Amino acid sequence: MEMSPNYHPPKEFAISAKDFSVFYGSFHAVKNVNMDFERGKVTAIIGPSGCGKSTFLRCINRMNDLVENCRTEGLLAFDGIDIYHKRLDVAELRRRIGMVFQRPNPFPKSIYENVAYGVRLKGVRKKAILDEIVENSLRRAALWDEVKDRLSSNALGMSGGQQQRLCIARALAIKPCVLLMDEPCSALDPKSTARIEDLIAELSGEYTIAIVTHNMQQAARVSDNTAFFYEGRLVEFGTTSQIFTNPKNKATNDYITGRFG
Ligand SMILES: Nc1ncnc2c1ncn2[C@@H]1O[C@H](COP(=O)(O)OP(=O)(O)O)[C@@H](O)[C@H]1O
Ligand SMILES: [Mg+2]
Repeated sequence: MEMSPNYHPPKEFAISAKDFSVFYGSFHAVKNVNMDFERGKVTAIIGPSGCGKSTFLRCINRMNDLVENCRTEGLLAFDGIDIYHKRLDVAELRRRIGMVFQRPNPFPKSIYENVAYGVRLKGVRKKAILDEIVENSLRRAALWDEVKDRLSSNALGMSGGQQQRLCIARALAIKPCVLLMDEPCSALDPKSTARIEDLIAELSGEYTIAIVTHNMQQAARVSDNTAFFYEGRLVEFGTTSQIFTNPKNKATNDYITGRFG
């Protein structure tokens, strides 16, 4: 991947947005966002439905390329690399920036193959190496003990919470630096949600994590920093404790106290 010629954000930031905007046709969905994602930390993105959280998150690994009328302005950088550079290798970007979606979306294949799939795509063929990566990834995703005796079973037979941890294992298997999570618990019961939250705490430090959530308690529990979006704008960004105990903006305060959203 190529470096942006003129922009080198400080090393403590994995992702940096500078006057970053996203449009769907003429609709300005994300408006001039400036924010940095601290390396090895968990950043929560909160805000009412339709405020541009998913749109912004999906730009970080270029998922919005799939939306025909979507375009961006400004700069989004990953390790100093311009994510929207013309000659950027998007497949490589997505290997380094993994994503977990709202609904668990395992492939209709075995548990083993779900995790091995992306690793095979990278050209790894040796069974012993694949076995090791599959086991390590499932362990990192806190799933190994539950599935080690049925690795060849179809992933679609697992519970929703297990499927979501499998999707996390699948993302980890290809050794990303960043994990993007778009409301990863919204389809899960409270017990599975708690497991995913524990897992996020486990993974922070090693990975830079960006999580969109509409659950304020979840943001408060899992994140180091919190960004509050409203109508496409980043209204307030700070440490999670500052945002939740001492918001500076009235809209932030109204939102976190449940007055709208
Ligand atoms: N593919 C699309 N085409 C046109 N408008 C879209 C598309 N996706 C999202 N939008 C609009 O962009 C705005 C932000 O949406 P989204 O990023 O999904 O918000 P959030 O994740 O905060 O709920 C909304 O007004 C939504 O209707
Ligand atoms: Mg969304």
